[in-house]
Amino acid sequence: MARIAIFGAGYVGLVTGACFADLGHDVVVRDILEERVDELRAGRVPIHEPGLEELLAKNANRLSFTLDVGEALDGAEFAFVAVGTPPTASGDADLAAVWTVVHSLPQLDQGLILVMKSTVPVGTGEKVRAELDSLGLGHVGYVSNPEFLAEGTAVRDFTNPDRVVVGAFEPEHAERVAALYDGIETTVVTTDVASAEMIKLASNAFLTTRVSFINEIANVCELVGADVTDVALGVGLDARLGPHFLRAGIGWGGSCFGKDVSALKQLAGNSGYHFQLLAAVIEVNELQKRRLVGKLKSQLGNLRGKVVAVLGVAFKPETDDTRDAPSLVLIGRLLAEGAEVRAWDPIAPERVLPQGVTLHRDHLDALDGADAAVIVTEWPQLRGLASPEVRDAMRNPLIVDGRNLLDPSAARAAGFSYEGVGRGSPSVAEPAGTPEPDAVPQ
Ligand code: UGA
Repeated sequence: MARIAIFGAGYVGLVTGACFADLGHDVVVRDILEERVDELRAGRVPIHEPGLEELLAKNANRLSFTLDVGEALDGAEFAFVAVGTPPTASGDADLAAVWTVVHSLPQLDQGLILVMKSTVPVGTGEKVRAELDSLGLGHVGYVSNPEFLAEGTAVRDFTNPDRVVVGAFEPEHAERVAALYDGIETTVVTTDVASAEMIKLASNAFLTTRVSFINEIANVCELVGADVTDVALGVGLDARLGPHFLRAGIGWGGSCFGKDVSALKQLAGNSGYHFQLLAAVIEVNELQKRRLVGKLKSQLGNLRGKVVAVLGVAFKPETDDTRDAPSLVLIGRLLAEGAEVRAWDPIAPERVLPQGVTLHRDHLDALDGADAAVIVTEWPQLRGLASPEVRDAMRNPLIVDGRNLLDPSAARAAGFSYEGVGRGSPSVAEPAGTPEPDAVPQ
């Protein structure tokens, strides 16, 4: 079993650390935030990620937390970099935290391998390699090992990955990093460093392309009277296309997609190539987030003074993460239109909301006297939204379903005006044996 240091106690670092410890490795997680390290030492987990708290507790004897680089690296054979790489104003990735880690490495005697988990532009590995050499750390290896964890399912994604990608300058380094995953059944893709970096960016870009594509199909469905949930089911059953990431809605968000797609577009541009398709994928998503405002206006007229309940603030269910959440764009637009906005989310923090927007933990409080309810995050708690209780609480029983969570005919039968995304035709009775559109696996 190996000794692993992990730099960064965010979503990626904590999940990676907990899962490696669960595989039997000894892990030290290092962060620069004293408060975060104190919390973790006291057994408190600063983020909401299903299964993480249990995994950290179960493996406490193989996991420690520190502020100190020397302590993290003491005896370590691998140092994983799991720090943030947020976008800069120009859309490039900001690698400041990555460079801080590289520059914090002391002169080491041991044969360490630096493993990049953070998402970085293609070419970063080459630059870090050159920097390590010039710092007198030529004996420190470098491996790109991008992460494909999705928030809300990160622990499951680590233990059941579709693949592990390992890009290295030296085949032996790739083998050693791949061996850390022994015990996990998966395909290991071993490649050069630049290709591993590109696999990560291309994967996220492809996923966003699929979502923007189905969102445009949804928008056309609205005009021609088709139902995008049936269309996605029918399209996704083609084995060449597959069913995943074909859920139309208010658009994609989160801390990774926007940043990675724009980083790839910028990277192409900086290298002399205009990535037209990605420019459209991003633009479609920006417009998609705003389309719900148009739907509200067509139902309610001028939104000034209208009370709108925004249901779901987190960028997706099972997380408290609100980075790049579509809800925040929608709320901003609604406030600009003069609406009174109330928000509901079971765990998202209130501090991310603009002034004047109240956050409720009970959705009935948010809906009391509301002119419209907008489903922004498909929290399971909202499945029963079209209830008599909600209808009676609202001033005007209108549901705009930005995630196609509800059954339109059932919502209408319960006395609501209902608008989904791309659900142009009234639902027809399903012939027996037809899978429910909701059964499309994600
Ligand atoms: C995403 C990728 O799925 C991970 O593989 C990747 O490792 C991660 O980014 C990352 O780069 O760190 P994540 O952002 O956690 O994971 O969440 P997703 O489940 O991919 O959802 C992203 C957004 O797309 C959400 O806003 C979601 O609502 C939206 N989405 C997803 C749709 O609108 N429709 C879909 O069919 C699927």
